[in-house]
Amino acid sequence: MNQPTGNTVKSVAIGIIGYGTVGQGVVEVLQKNAREIERRCGYHLQVKSVARRDWSGTDTSALPFTCVTDPFAVAGDPAVDIVIELAGGEHPARELIETALKNGKHVITANKALIAKHGEALFALAREKGRELTFEAAVAGGIPVIKVLREGMSANEVKRVAGIINGTSNYILTEMAQKGRDFADVLKEAQALGYAEADPSFDINGTDAAHKITILASIAFGIPLQFDSVYIEGIDALTPEDIQDAAELGYSIKHLGLAVRRDNGVEIRVHPTLVPQNALIASVNGVMNAVQVQGNAVGNSLYYGPGAGKLPTASAVVADLIDVVRELNLKGEDRLTEFGYSEVHDRSSLPVLPAEAFHSAYYLRLTVADRAGVLADITRILADNSISINSVSQKNHRKNNGHIPLVLLTEVVNEAQMNRACEQLAALPAVSGAVKRIRVENIE
Ligand code: HSE
Repeated sequence: MNQPTGNTVKSVAIGIIGYGTVGQGVVEVLQKNAREIERRCGYHLQVKSVARRDWSGTDTSALPFTCVTDPFAVAGDPAVDIVIELAGGEHPARELIETALKNGKHVITANKALIAKHGEALFALAREKGRELTFEAAVAGGIPVIKVLREGMSANEVKRVAGIINGTSNYILTEMAQKGRDFADVLKEAQALGYAEADPSFDINGTDAAHKITILASIAFGIPLQFDSVYIEGIDALTPEDIQDAAELGYSIKHLGLAVRRDNGVEIRVHPTLVPQNALIASVNGVMNAVQVQGNAVGNSLYYGPGAGKLPTASAVVADLIDVVRELNLKGEDRLTEFGYSEVHDRSSLPVLPAEAFHSAYYLRLTVADRAGVLADITRILADNSISINSVSQKNHRKNNGHIPLVLLTEVVNEAQMNRACEQLAALPAVSGAVKRIRVENIE
């Protein structure tokens, strides 16, 4: 870092690992907004070196930084003060960040999988080295939701975080609901738009949203990162009938990441969810993201914006960069901790609850023989399991082979009771096939 001489602006040297869409976006934002950024942080931010696996096809002589192919050369470059890791994936991203921290660099990453799965070890190393490791771009792209939870909500006990945090699955659900389109066809389009993960199954099966809600839960509740304890369901089992039935009941189906504080612990779960059509979050469509945070002082607040993309993600990365630069002259112990909690307090006092302990309302769909007494058998099983019914509708227009779909909404129930009831329902001779069940959150 160059120290000021007279009125000269100080300069900070940046190294970037990964020069794909986001890396190029970061360089673009740093160039386009150089003056504004310098006014805000008091330093000139200079990209010194950039690593990319393959530079062929790029005129590197026209680029104002050193182009290298070895990412470790950037992580260990003595001329670099701050490293931005945009390589993605778990390895060698983890080793790259470790190398950078061990070489005394602050690190900024957009890597949600890495933070969710290896964040505890990496933050410990950063603390040991007195360096920062920041990750705003890891969740909900351009929405500054990490800062919201860590700083904006710091006066609250957070009760619930509910987010549409995977743009690809939201795009697929929106297209299915609004245009009746086919799942596979919409997925292809989402991939072409550049939103889908390198492994698109992570979008569809809920893994990507689980990485993100793991991080949000840790900040919301001050608990360790526990990706392995997250309950995960994707959107792959949803059918046009589910979407149609939900709409008839006044609900939209959204794929939510939820972190809910209960008296005995926290629920961290990712799954398709019926939300009331008049809830603001129900109108978040296409690839957009939104996170609703409920705090015991502020009540409900909703944050909406682009969850991915070149410049929105770069916006979050560069905001982190500015934060790190603003705190450059602070000692490690004087900086804000990664989740905003004082280190003297135990972070593991709030357990992550197993799925059987969850509480949620439910949409159930059964295919039943259309004959007398069937509804009575079904309601008896629900009553025996202390499950209160909110509504029942029989879809006579979808009668097939003497069988009709029966759709029920329940009140909030304990998951273990619902599991038991569903097993008993499926065993009834009049019920054919499995019981379809989707959780309902009556979000305001
Ligand atoms: N695959 C992610 C999404 C990209 O669809 O939201 C942003 O993390």
